[in-house]
Amino acid sequence: MTLSRILTQQEYETAYAASVKDPEAFWAAQAETFTWKKKWDKVLQWNFDGPEVKWFLGGKLNITENCLDRHLATRGEKTAILWEPNDPNEAAQRLSYRELHDRVCRYANVLKRNGVKKGDRVCIYMPMIPELVVAVLGCARIGAIHSVVFAGFSAQSIADRIQDANAEFVLTSDGMMRGAKKGAVKSVVDEALATCPDVKRVIVTKRTGDPVAMKDGRDVWLHEELKHVDANCPAEVMDAEDPLFILYTSGSTGKPKGVVHTCGGYMVYTDYTFRNVFQYEEKDVFWCTADVGWVTGHSYIIYGPLLAGATSLVFEGIPTYPDAGRFWQVIDKHQVHIFYTAPTAIRSLMAQGLGFVEPHSLSSLRVIGSVGEPINEEAWHWYKDHIGKGHCALVDTWWQTETGGIMISSLAGVTDEKPSHAAWPLPGVQPVLLTADGKEIAENEQEGLLAIRFPWPSIIRTTYGDHERCRQTYFSSYKGYYFTGDGARRDADGRYRIIGRVDDVINVSGHRFGTAEIENAINESEFVVESAVVGYPHDIKGQGIYAYVIAERRIDDVEQARAAILATVTKVIGPIAKPDKIQFVTGLPKTRSGKIMRRILRKVAEGEMSNLGDTTTLLDPAVVEEIKAGRL
Ligand code: PRX
Repeated sequence: MTLSRILTQQEYETAYAASVKDPEAFWAAQAETFTWKKKWDKVLQWNFDGPEVKWFLGGKLNITENCLDRHLATRGEKTAILWEPNDPNEAAQRLSYRELHDRVCRYANVLKRNGVKKGDRVCIYMPMIPELVVAVLGCARIGAIHSVVFAGFSAQSIADRIQDANAEFVLTSDGMMRGAKKGAVKSVVDEALATCPDVKRVIVTKRTGDPVAMKDGRDVWLHEELKHVDANCPAEVMDAEDPLFILYTSGSTGKPKGVVHTCGGYMVYTDYTFRNVFQYEEKDVFWCTADVGWVTGHSYIIYGPLLAGATSLVFEGIPTYPDAGRFWQVIDKHQVHIFYTAPTAIRSLMAQGLGFVEPHSLSSLRVIGSVGEPINEEAWHWYKDHIGKGHCALVDTWWQTETGGIMISSLAGVTDEKPSHAAWPLPGVQPVLLTADGKEIAENEQEGLLAIRFPWPSIIRTTYGDHERCRQTYFSSYKGYYFTGDGARRDADGRYRIIGRVDDVINVSGHRFGTAEIENAINESEFVVESAVVGYPHDIKGQGIYAYVIAERRIDDVEQARAAILATVTKVIGPIAKPDKIQFVTGLPKTRSGKIMRRILRKVAEGEMSNLGDTTTLLDPAVVEEIKAGRL
């Protein structure tokens, strides 16, 4: 059975209504399209108190059979992974479904040969090379639980994650290519493993050829190991609710927690959302610019596209190497149809000017997407007009590590789009807005806490090793709901606009503002490139608003520039949202994944200059010094 996509607004409404009326029948119909080794006995069992959520109970499958084996008959020679290296002069690589299947099976046999068994946790710390995809799928092939750690994280972060998951195996590379430089990988792992004595085996892929230390009895080269295996590796039979992976994510408290996703539900949901949100067609080349180290890379570089039999482009490099036109050059080179990136990338490339965009035609693009943070209106329009050339559908996709797949988004060109609005819940997703005391808000044109009242197939199952933490974080604030931690607003027609984390909400004189909402307003000032807003204690208002602003050019008359911003904010939101302080800066403290570290900004705004906490994950720690020095 092959399921068709939703193709019209009417079909969306029908599918949505059906998914709410009878979620089990709706998702069972989607699940029917996959290869199961044994069909499920029961579609869903759940309560949000435990929480305990199980989908496709009793079903047996292997996700790699659905990503690979299932396609061999019809798409064996089709490109599965199209790899674009960091250096544009190095040749791109194409792995057909048959070749990828072969490589995954061999890799899985290497894992087995080295003692990895079903249920074992395997830490993967690798750059964006084809072997990263192969390693992830190799784990899934034999039922080992992968825990990918973004290859920009520090040794300490790797060690924390290895210890939390009790991982005994690490898959890595010698080094990595990143822009004009090479980066260390294996040596970072070595440093991490100094505090991880339980790690038995490290399998190293050669990428840069730089010399690395190999510890006798612990470290082995992949290319040596591959000499001892063949490509015959039957897929391990997994229960639908067996863990597929752990992915660590930061919360508002404590150390990162290991979000656990399971095989069956995650498979069904990532496939469904991939095909429908992006309106994927068989001929399409799909490019998600995320790193596999984040959930976006898991769901929309690897699993979603491969489940659908798509060609997924994997990019090793960075958007500004050799220059800020690289994304656009790659789109033309590989004739990309669907492009999915983050607002932070869009804004930074926007700041580089159209000179980097104009030499490229971008005529292959049909759909462009955004994920990870609210996309401000200016960036939305720039993306739509200059990258999408006005005619591409633009999907603003809201979701989280914990949700596994896209939850709220337009369906490209099918349901309408509105700048800065993620818009419509996917079929099967039942969002609600809650008041602070947990009451559902029925009316539109209201703002509230975004929660979900019914499970979808790829909902977080637990936080690894600490189920109580999962309950506390997501299911205890509002009984009977999964709480997202985000604030949102519904417009007059019911579209959702994500405001931002509620821990970033500022309460000014009893009025609440999303930091993103104020930033959006500030960014409408013509000379502003980007801004970040935090709250700080204010004697009269409770909290005041502190804005850090990056201007397009050097500001000569600071007071005049501040007045212009205040006028814009007054115009866009109202006088009450006017920042109390505006500091002009040349950069903001961003993590390597592009998120602004507001904690640091908040501390500086509060005058707590000495105890800024961990700044090691910052892309450029030097900006912190500049901000401290310029504090108002
Ligand atoms: O605040 C929301 C924001 O990113 C958070 C989830 O982050 P993470 O688990 O790292 O996953 C990012 C990629 C899925 C959310 O709680 N967020 C994500 N997408 C959007 C967004 N905020 C606004 N609009 C979005 N499209």
